[in-house]
Amino acid sequence: MTVEIRYEKDTDIEKISYINNLAFGQTNEGMLVEKLRLNPKFIKQLSLVAVKDDTVIGHILFFPIVIENGSKQHKSLALAPMSVLPEFQKKGVGSKLIKKGLKIAKGLKYKSVIVLGHKDYYPKFGFLPASNWGIKSPFNVPEDVSMAVELTEKGLKDVSGVVRYPKEFDEVG
Ligand SMILES: CC(C)(COP(=O)(O)OP(=O)(O)OC[C@H]1O[C@@H](n2cnc3c(N)ncnc32)[C@H](O)[C@@H]1OP(=O)(O)O)[C@@H](O)C(=O)NCCC(=O)NCCS
Repeated sequence: MTVEIRYEKDTDIEKISYINNLAFGQTNEGMLVEKLRLNPKFIKQLSLVAVKDDTVIGHILFFPIVIENGSKQHKSLALAPMSVLPEFQKKGVGSKLIKKGLKIAKGLKYKSVIVLGHKDYYPKFGFLPASNWGIKSPFNVPEDVSMAVELTEKGLKDVSGVVRYPKEFDEVG
């Protein structure tokens, strides 16, 4: 299956919400993307779509966050949310979105990405338990869903603390 990964365009916005709503079976994540797009920290090159035959079938967003330890703040990115239309899942579209996103993030000089997700899915892209670095989620989630990947060698060296998400994430539920 030929799938192109590219930056989102304004004309993709409605379709992105639609894909999130269908993939998650609720509107929370689609609304989260819409709210984050209005946040000045939103980076257009880190909101990617998967396109097949001119149709958008998947989306991934990486949003700037900080890992906070006392007065120290380390810049990173959160991979969230990510969605593929149900009929195109398990065909490698999600993998393509993640790989391209990590490459672009590295090109933008980010040194790491964190994610809350399935422990059997993300390790194949280099993610390891965030607890390896003493990085904690602010949300009440099982420890093994909290993961991080270094985009540069030792990108998380001496980094530990609590992930601080923008307030829009508090409303996802
Ligand atoms: C999570 C999600 C984005 C993954 O997208 P996807 O396109 O299905 O992902 P992939 O196809 O790359 O990988 C999914 C699985 O299919 C397998 N797969 C990949 N290519 C395949 C192929 N050609 N044939 C068969 N299986 C394949 C992968 O190995 C993977 O297997 P795993 O479940 O054992 O890890 C998608 O399932 C989704 O939208 N889910 C609902 C929303 C959600 O939960 N989002 C994540 C939290 S933010």
